[in-house]
Amino acid sequence: MARKMSLSLNLLFGALFLLAAMACSANAYKFVVGGRRGWTLNPTEGYGHWAERNRFQVNDTLYFKYDKNTDSVLFVDEEDYKNCNPNKPLLKLEGGDSVFKFDRSGPFFFITANATNCQRGQKLIVVVLAVRSPPPPPHVQPPAATPPPSPAPTSPPPSAPTPAEDSVPAPSASEVSPPTVKSPGAAALGPAAVLLSAVCVLFGLSVISV
Ligand SMILES: *[C@@H]1O[C@H](CO)[C@@H](O)[C@H](O)[C@H]1NC(C)=O
Ligand SMILES: *[C@@H]1O[C@H](CO)[C@@H](O)[C@H](O)[C@H]1NC(C)=O
Repeated sequence: MARKMSLSLNLLFGALFLLAAMACSANAYKFVVGGRRGWTLNPTEGYGHWAERNRFQVNDTLYFKYDKNTDSVLFVDEEDYKNCNPNKPLLKLEGGDSVFKFDRSGPFFFITANATNCQRGQKLIVVVLAVRSPPPPPHVQPPAATPPPSPAPTSPPPSAPTPAEDSVPAPSASEVSPPTVKSPGAAALGPAAVLLSAVCVLFGLSVISV
């Protein structure tokens, strides 16, 4: 009888474990392209700006909402992106509600099939980060990056080495953008994300207790 009990307990844990593992691995964001107005010629925020202030990772998804009668989304290569060429897409999304999942890191190019509107800005580049990033280490400083480009003629006596002062990393413009700001769509997933986190914590606990 004791045996039977521990067996069912194991089963229970096994099931929980699987469930939690699935939930944790599915922890991806859904980005709503173009905010409230969706995939359109006149989004609430320019697509370039929007893409720059978000962090896209493998398994995240883009959600395109558009008028299915007049528009579509083409996943294209870089060349066709530049030229707004809708004639040989790698993938064509139609129907007004389209989801695109990032299956790798690197750049992804999207254009509308309406070449005129593409030329007027209805196009999107998303660069997906290489790894699911942990918070960046506090002291990232490239080695040997300290010597300033200017030569020494006008500088005071070079007796005191100063690299420690100079090496405080000055944030570059591209690093300043808030990393945690997600699109409205991602924000809408808040409650789900909290639930997921809770499940993930449980998952961690069950791993420890097994
Ligand atoms: C993406 O999802 C697949 C399964 O859906 C999983 O095997 C893979 O590890 C995930 N990749 C990342 C980076 O989360
Ligand atoms: C492209 O969209 C504009 C309006 O945004 C429309 O007038 C034009 O007919 C469309 N072109 C094609 C080829 O659908």
